[in-house]
Amino acid sequence: MKRRQALGLLGGALASVVSQNTLGQYVIPQGQVRLVFNENPYGPSPRALAAVNEILSLSAYYPDSPTDSPILDDLLSAISKKHNVDRENLLVSSGSNEALQAALLVYGEKGKILAPTLTYDAHLNYAKALGIDVVNVPLRSDLQVDLDAMKAQVDHTVSLVYLANPNNPTGIPLNATALRNFCREVGKKAVVIIDEAYNELTENPADQSMVDLVRDNQNVLITRTFSKIFGMAGMRVGYGLGHPEIIAKVNNALMAWPNGIGLTAAYHSYQDDEFIAFSRKKILQGRAMVTGTLQRAGVTPIASQTNFVFADIGLNATEFVAQMARRNVQIQGGYQDYPTYIRISMGKLEDLEIFDRVFSAVYQSYA
Ligand SMILES: Cc1ncc(COP(=O)(O)O)c(C=O)c1O
Repeated sequence: MKRRQALGLLGGALASVVSQNTLGQYVIPQGQVRLVFNENPYGPSPRALAAVNEILSLSAYYPDSPTDSPILDDLLSAISKKHNVDRENLLVSSGSNEALQAALLVYGEKGKILAPTLTYDAHLNYAKALGIDVVNVPLRSDLQVDLDAMKAQVDHTVSLVYLANPNNPTGIPLNATALRNFCREVGKKAVVIIDEAYNELTENPADQSMVDLVRDNQNVLITRTFSKIFGMAGMRVGYGLGHPEIIAKVNNALMAWPNGIGLTAAYHSYQDDEFIAFSRKKILQGRAMVTGTLQRAGVTPIASQTNFVFADIGLNATEFVAQMARRNVQIQGGYQDYPTYIRISMGKLEDLEIFDRVFSAVYQSYA
């Protein structure tokens, strides 16, 4: 056997060791369709992957210093330029979740946290576990966040209000004008967090974003993430835009060191407009497919402006989700006060074709 052939074979053997052990350990067992965590399976961007490959061996080192590293600097500059805000308005965190947790930690010491009953809640649960008082305000009957009811509850005992726009798991955006007015008024009494994890997937991202309030020095913190449109959920990078005082306080409560590999990938995917447009197109295509699957079964999903679809199937959703999982398709379902709702995250289109077949079969089995 020639040396090159032998090396080729060895390479193949090594690759299969890597794929069986490493990839299998990391993520999805073969044959499983995972539509659970609102990830973007088209990511990370090719430019991000190429950059990460070059620097992977340098992960023996911390990325310079906690607050002063060239890659962090470049990423902050790119964010500052894109949103037309100053550097003192910005922070970078390990996933947006870290910024949310830190904000709840800082402001939860001073008073109550107000949030809708049905919303993204990892950071809210973290705060509750630390003994912080989290007050939940029910959604309206049309599943919209009830801004009036929330406003009515804001008094001197409330230090922070959390809203996700669009909301998770409903996928519904808030009315942008109503939200702007809410932030300006409520901001006089409490910090308002607007979690814009899915902003890039809305119909009109610029209008939907409350970043203009940051430019106007309002009492807000906006969080964004590289986990969704940028397809980097596993690399844990997010960022915050807000009033300089809020940014300084939240920055102080973040972990000591950012993730250097993640920062590098974030910086390069942020510039990759082709990849961003491609991701958006595929996700919207997927959303139309899932909507079609549900509608053909007679289920009317909530109109989503995110990478997931929320729907009332009129059945015990926890049981339904288990039936789907038995057929190797994982979705979410069964929420407190909403036990008949399911949530389907966008996978690749081929995965959504499998979803179509499995959902239809399981749904029909209840007929
Ligand atoms: C509304 C919302 N905010 C934040 C997050 C957390 O994202 P990250 O990966 O940036 O921590 C999620 C994740 O699903 C989410 O749905």
